[in-house]
Amino acid sequence: MIQRKELIKRYIEFFKSKKHKEIPNSSLIPNLGGSDTGVLFTTAGMHPLVPYLLGQKHPHGKRLCGVQKCIRTIDIEEVGDSTHHTFFEMLGNWSLGDYFKKEAIEYSFEFLTKVLKIKKDKISVTCFKGDKDAKKDEESAKFWISQGIPKERIKFLSKSDNWWGPAGETGPCGPDTEMFVNSIEIWNDVFMEYNKNSNGKFEPLKQKNVDTGMGVERTLATLNNLDDNYLTEVWKPIIEEIEKISKQNYENLSTKPKMRIIADHIKASVFILAEGITPSNTEQGYVLRRLIRRAVRFGRELRIKNFASKIAEPVFRIYDDYPELKKNKKFIMEELKKEENKFELTIERGMNKFKKFSENKKLSGEEAFLLFQSYGFPIEITRELAKENQVKLDEKEFQKELEKHKELSRTASKGKFKSGLADNSEQTTKLHTAAHLLLAAIQKVLKDKDIMQKGSNITPERLRLDFSFPRKLTEEEIKKIEDLVNEQIKKSTNVTREEMSPKEAKKKGASGIFNEKYGDKVSVYTIGDFSKEICTGPHVKNTREIGKFKITKEESSSSGVRRIRASLG
Ligand code: ALA
Repeated sequence: MIQRKELIKRYIEFFKSKKHKEIPNSSLIPNLGGSDTGVLFTTAGMHPLVPYLLGQKHPHGKRLCGVQKCIRTIDIEEVGDSTHHTFFEMLGNWSLGDYFKKEAIEYSFEFLTKVLKIKKDKISVTCFKGDKDAKKDEESAKFWISQGIPKERIKFLSKSDNWWGPAGETGPCGPDTEMFVNSIEIWNDVFMEYNKNSNGKFEPLKQKNVDTGMGVERTLATLNNLDDNYLTEVWKPIIEEIEKISKQNYENLSTKPKMRIIADHIKASVFILAEGITPSNTEQGYVLRRLIRRAVRFGRELRIKNFASKIAEPVFRIYDDYPELKKNKKFIMEELKKEENKFELTIERGMNKFKKFSENKKLSGEEAFLLFQSYGFPIEITRELAKENQVKLDEKEFQKELEKHKELSRTASKGKFKSGLADNSEQTTKLHTAAHLLLAAIQKVLKDKDIMQKGSNITPERLRLDFSFPRKLTEEEIKKIEDLVNEQIKKSTNVTREEMSPKEAKKKGASGIFNEKYGDKVSVYTIGDFSKEICTGPHVKNTREIGKFKITKEESSSSGVRRIRASLG
């Protein structure tokens, strides 16, 4: 048996003995690691070395080695089998214009057979077949033969198999030779002698480099004769925790892929959070959100809830040699719980909606957009659900809806449509003033004056008000809010309007969204000392005109947003 720390140690020691200097494990976020290749995450050990592969002098010289944490999201939907992971560790050795194919192959072979003691007859390799950009890699094959690998175990394959890079759109790349043990690829030696430029052309680099990558998880599985990476020590404790929480067995065929997905996504989320990234709707934060939400979705299929932070616990034990995990543990656990809770609040209803919408085996872009907007389903989750259930999804229309929505919110933030009124009828006007009383009452009863209006829609029949609040209101709270509004109506208070600068309005404590672009003057409506809001009107003159106010429903509108419907009796 050889375990993770031992494998890493032997690798680094071996390459140090070959005059390589060890380099530190870089950030998962490429530009924090010193080189921005235009991709969201560090996907390989060479990532932080891009400037040096292009010719810049590295402070530690021309021979480097190390282990690098990586995230690959391209494989996200393949996760669930025995070998694909979002987060993984990669061992690597690099030559920056120093040795090339001969030594790289000799070192690889020596490490595999002498240090790891893998039998020569278990090893097979592939080399680049050649095309218009680069010639067939006969040289590498020759070096393998001289190490004792017979011709029959050397295959020549095309660019899609035996070429690696660039890591982003442009950058260093080249043909590679891959090593397989018992048919599992564990190591890749890339001969980086080209730079792919922005015209898509491969131009020769100033120097010939070697970039290698050995997957820690796969190698561990191979060395320990396991046909499933999730049975190695870097996964097993996480799987066992899932088994414990769900009271189900990993060996069960239908639960196995689900447990793997959950374990994979939670581990990756822990490492992304350790970089200080939080779930959001853009870039790395969006990937993180997708991972957590996807884990929660598969957790539901195992009938488990509130599990993310529990399953994260073993990750800290397995990777106790990463100080950033230990240091940020509290933050990581809190963020996991927060995002899980957010999604839990809406997922059940979202799944029901999905089922209902897709009864006819079709899901329109508008429906997918509703799932995204009101139930927090990233489009990737909807896409996957559609695939699983053989539902045809109109993604083009979804993108159009998304654009339309962005346009609408741009317009709304310019101050148009702000009051959300369907018309200026007497009934709508009454409900509009009632909405102001309602917002103030919500802030008072829930004791949070920062609760914000997130939207409103008023017709002559009813009002609908959305506001930021993380949980369902209790019946008692709803009753108190309703009573408070009625109390204010009965007080027969005059509603007054003043014009002032947005700055002054803010100083006076008026509700409004101050990061929006208001003009130089805004109108502020005041109802006694109870409510003050920036608003374009219209409103009643005196609260007694409103009549009796009644809350008809309290529900969730989207994640973190509640909705109250009310009417006048
Ligand atoms: N950069 C190469 C890979 O990721 C070694 O396979």
